[in-house]
Amino acid sequence: MKADRQFMQEMSDIEWYHRIPINGVTTPGKNLTHLKLKTLHLPESFEGLSVLDVGAWDGFFSFEAERRGASRVVALDSFIWRERGRKGFDFAKKALGSKVEPIEMEVLDICPERLGSFDVVLFLGVLYHMKHPLLALEKVASVTKKLLIVETLLDAERMKRPAMIYYPGDQQHKDSTNWWGPNTNAVVDMLTTVGFPEVEVVSKMPFRTRLAKGFYDCWKGRTGYSSMVYEVFNQGRGTFHARAAVE
Ligand SMILES: C[S@@+](CC[C@H](N)C(=O)[O-])C[C@H]1O[C@@H](n2cnc3c(N)ncnc32)[C@H](O)[C@@H]1O
Repeated sequence: MKADRQFMQEMSDIEWYHRIPINGVTTPGKNLTHLKLKTLHLPESFEGLSVLDVGAWDGFFSFEAERRGASRVVALDSFIWRERGRKGFDFAKKALGSKVEPIEMEVLDICPERLGSFDVVLFLGVLYHMKHPLLALEKVASVTKKLLIVETLLDAERMKRPAMIYYPGDQQHKDSTNWWGPNTNAVVDMLTTVGFPEVEVVSKMPFRTRLAKGFYDCWKGRTGYSSMVYEVFNQGRGTFHARAAVE
């Protein structure tokens, strides 16, 4: 599909989350998708691999897996597609001539009987939206044949013991869909508990790097001073590669 006037008009009518490059144009998403991609350490090649992208939203990472040669990609989501529709995903899929298969399903309904299993499962930016995080990891583990990649918000990082912070209401970034912020050790231990013998922390970004944004939010009244200090020293983002046992 050419990036002509109609293409630009249709694209600008969509409320984008991801920044997806299509025909020399990038969709105007609010998420810094290209930076997130660098932190994930995805395999350079997905040649011959089946991939499940859980919480796909506009589908950037599904299309990226396909671009890297995946033999089959399923993009799964529920919440955002139900609330806001699937316009971004559908537009990008058509424009890219993609074969990625969208499936609307809740994380807790994931099971091999309904979905089959996949060589690689992506669980990016979803764990902290889960009311029952360990159960959610159990579900995604049940359909992972080789590698599960988890990217998540981290909290309580200054605690050594595995811990999670509970966010009642909209305490975390004024978003009531955020439930739990685990620390690194909690994510590693939960992944081990759900059956992965090998778990690697492949990247960590402390929120200290977002100090300026923290001050700005505080100044704007979006967050209080003490929670800003807490967030800066305890929170961050991390990516984990969990490898299944070799059959
Ligand atoms: C922060 S976005 C992350 C989007 C994308 N994976 C990324 O990393 O850019 C969280 C996504 O998880 C989805 N999600 C949240 N709860 C879900 C659930 N219970 N079942 C399926 N998807 C869910 C949301 O709809 C949304 O698309």
